Amino acid sequence: MNVIMVTGGAGFIGSNFIRYVLEKTDFKGKIVNVDKLTYAGNPENLSDIAQKYSSTRYFFEQTDICDKEKIAELFKKYNIDTVVHFAAESHVDRSILGPKDFIETNIMGTFNLLENARNYWGQRTDVRFHHISTDEVYGSLGETGYFYETTPYDPRSPYSASKASSDHLVEAYKHTYGLPVTKSNCSNNYGPYHFPEKLIPLLILNILDQKPLPVYGDGLNVRDWLYVEDHCSAIWTILTKGIVGETYNIGGENERTNIEIVNTVCEIMAEKHNKEKDFYKKLITFVKDRPGHDRRYAINCDKIKQQLGWKQSVNFEQGIRKTVEWYLANSQWVKNVQSGDYKNWINKNYEKR
Ligand code: NAD
Ligand code: DAU
Repeated sequence: MNVIMVTGGAGFIGSNFIRYVLEKTDFKGKIVNVDKLTYAGNPENLSDIAQKYSSTRYFFEQTDICDKEKIAELFKKYNIDTVVHFAAESHVDRSILGPKDFIETNIMGTFNLLENARNYWGQRTDVRFHHISTDEVYGSLGETGYFYETTPYDPRSPYSASKASSDHLVEAYKHTYGLPVTKSNCSNNYGPYHFPEKLIPLLILNILDQKPLPVYGDGLNVRDWLYVEDHCSAIWTILTKGIVGETYNIGGENERTNIEIVNTVCEIMAEKHNKEKDFYKKLITFVKDRPGHDRRYAINCDKIKQQLGWKQSVNFEQGIRKTVEWYLANSQWVKNVQSGDYKNWINKNYEKR
């Protein structure tokens, strides 16, 4: 690995990944961040990295992954030998309101990257295309059981259907053209730089603003929460030790109901603000359920743990504390992110209910 093209590197996980690779691994090469800067892309997520490594080891290209010519040009310009593909429309609620962007970016964008990788690399085997996917492609679990790498796909939302489709394309390029690919399917991430349309940062910011905390349905849907830096270390483990052609599930092994998450965030925020434990729980508001809301996700990640020696570094109690503390310490980032599209989205979303 000499030059890594990271797509979607200005988003939540992509920006954490770039920081992780440049600051916490022995990687000596260059990273090219290819990001269209949609509402979810925020150059401020990497302002420290840009300051430290710009034009030496970090390069930013504002580009749409669907742009065939521009992506071809970037492969050539930087002599890319590794792609780590995060770029996507990532929010389930938005995919329900308007699926088109999801189909374009997640399916056509992935197709375009695969085509360019195939054209530029030919039959080379010293290269890698790593595709970042989600546990949502496996559908919804009942009260027991886990998603394994072998679980049949059963996506339920336009978002998960588009991600499933991109996964199938990656597999097809492996089998048909021999493209050296790896794939990872991950559970819910949380941590610094998370855009506040998603549950955990939304809760923190709404508590700060004394706004209602919207809980969909009965609040008993279950997600498996993974601290974002642990996701980054898992991807790095796959890039450096993973077997080409394989898929790895990545999970936090931290299953929580949504209402447990809401209560925990309320309690940590109360402690930070010297209030009584239940002070912020009065903000909890049960709202109309998400259509087709998957009931439970739970990842079995024995494969990456046993075969590649990866493990999580924090449990949920440690990770959620670090996360709340990061948002409290980064009030300027919060202020900036709350202006613009975020405000429109939140207002529209509330009207909807
Ligand atoms: P995000 O929405 O925070 O960031 C997505 C990034 O992609 C943004 O910077 C955006 O500008 C960029 N982007 C969108 N469309 C683009 C296009 N057409 N061309 C170039 N750039 C474009 O998303 P995230 O939460 O960081 O998720 C990253 C990846 O991880 C996605 O593929 C998502 O499906 C996957 N994933 C996310 C989670 C999670 O919990 N967040 C869990 C599992 C998998
Ligand atoms: O499982 C991995 C997926 O996790 C990723 O593939 C997606 O990109 C990512 O957005 C995330 O999807 P979710 O739909 O699980 O995340 P979200 O934060 O939107 O919601 C988490 C849970 O909380 C879900 O059950 C819906 C619920 N929820 C969400 C919001 C935004 C609420 O109850 N209230 C809310 O306001």
